Amino acid sequence: MAGEHILNVAGVAKQGSDTIFSWWARYQDAKAAGKDAVNGTIGALLEDDGNLAINKVVDAAVRAAPEVEISAYAPLAGLPSFLDLSKTLAFGESRTRLEELGFNFAATASPGGSGALYLAANNLLERGQSALLRDRHWGPYKGFLDNNGIDFLTWPLLPPNGHDEHPYFAADEFEQSLEELCQKQDKIMVWLNDPAHNPTGLSMGAEGRAACLSSFVTSALNNESIGHTLLIDSAYSLYADEPHAWADTILGAIESGMPWPENFLICVAISLSKSHTIYGLRTGALVCLHPEKEVTDRLSTVMSVTGRQTWSAAPRVAQYCVSEMHSSEEGGEAWSKERDRLKQLLDDRRTNLKSECEKLNVPLNPTMDGFFAWIEADDPVAVAESCAEMDVYLVPLKGGVRIGLCALSASDMPKVAKALANAMS
Ligand SMILES: Cc1ncc(COP(=O)(O)O)c(C=O)c1O
Repeated sequence: MAGEHILNVAGVAKQGSDTIFSWWARYQDAKAAGKDAVNGTIGALLEDDGNLAINKVVDAAVRAAPEVEISAYAPLAGLPSFLDLSKTLAFGESRTRLEELGFNFAATASPGGSGALYLAANNLLERGQSALLRDRHWGPYKGFLDNNGIDFLTWPLLPPNGHDEHPYFAADEFEQSLEELCQKQDKIMVWLNDPAHNPTGLSMGAEGRAACLSSFVTSALNNESIGHTLLIDSAYSLYADEPHAWADTILGAIESGMPWPENFLICVAISLSKSHTIYGLRTGALVCLHPEKEVTDRLSTVMSVTGRQTWSAAPRVAQYCVSEMHSSEEGGEAWSKERDRLKQLLDDRRTNLKSECEKLNVPLNPTMDGFFAWIEADDPVAVAESCAEMDVYLVPLKGGVRIGLCALSASDMPKVAKALANAMS
């Protein structure tokens, strides 16, 4: 293989083929060949005419940036105004009450949500240990973990056998996986992309979240010497019906008397890529919650030192512009009006897809929020190939096919449902 004497073992293992981009290229080729093709491939929100959807209020705020805010480094941990905003973006209205109850936050700016995930992977498990993910998850998780010498176990996205104690949370399998990890590791970390999961659009629901939190805290209480980190990846949450569902669950549990052991940490990885449509400005943060200030102070230091050693400081311009924008009531309202318009595009597309699939008995997975819908398939490539024959371009991933509602238009859905019905038969 080219470069084998130059690359290290980890480098040799890195393969270039990106499934999403290769299926997007096939859509573009079909379009160029004059086909009436529809694009359900890419993971960015497009307007119905196929152009990138842009939150105009954020765009205007970024264009008004003073020169120095574009050119200067940000402080290593991030701009203080942005760190303050990131706590509110992560915890919404529950933030204030958590602070009143004596909880503390550590926030560190990062290049997008990806940077926040890297910070967690780099610091919260030992090399050789395993993280715990759901079996359907965003592909790049593996890379962030691999690059930090971390493996992973999975538990099922949905309860197997259709048992419905918590319809969108496989509680028994989660607890078994936790027990298994507690037998062999002194640190546990769960990554959970919720609400508005990529690649399915699932949101766990209040019961599922409460059950998940309770199992995790119970495990932390029963295993005092084992660190327990629950990381919520909130990349799409600001397009969900309940954007701060996890914060509400956490606060509700605390107010109902849930104990919080010292070995338990909650982190939220926030990303402004989608919520503020600034994918390329690489802005996000890791926000950690713990009752003890010594712990959050230490985490702040560790995370900003990790950033320094990895990418130096995160980009400054969007940290500045977005926190300025949200600092006034009008700015925040104007942003949310644009966000609501973009959310409506997704809601209309999802409603149409669900109703078209229902008419044709297409077994779509439960899907509630965010950019994607999903269909489980034993042979995802065969399903995607069959859809492509009907000029519908989707993405075959492990265990199923991802339907990019973010890239399709509402009027494409009868065609998408027909292609899926044909492929699944
Ligand atoms: C599930 C999930 N988490 C995190 C991210 C991070 O995005 P970014 O690094 O662009 O902020 C993405 C982006 O696609 C994602 O899909």
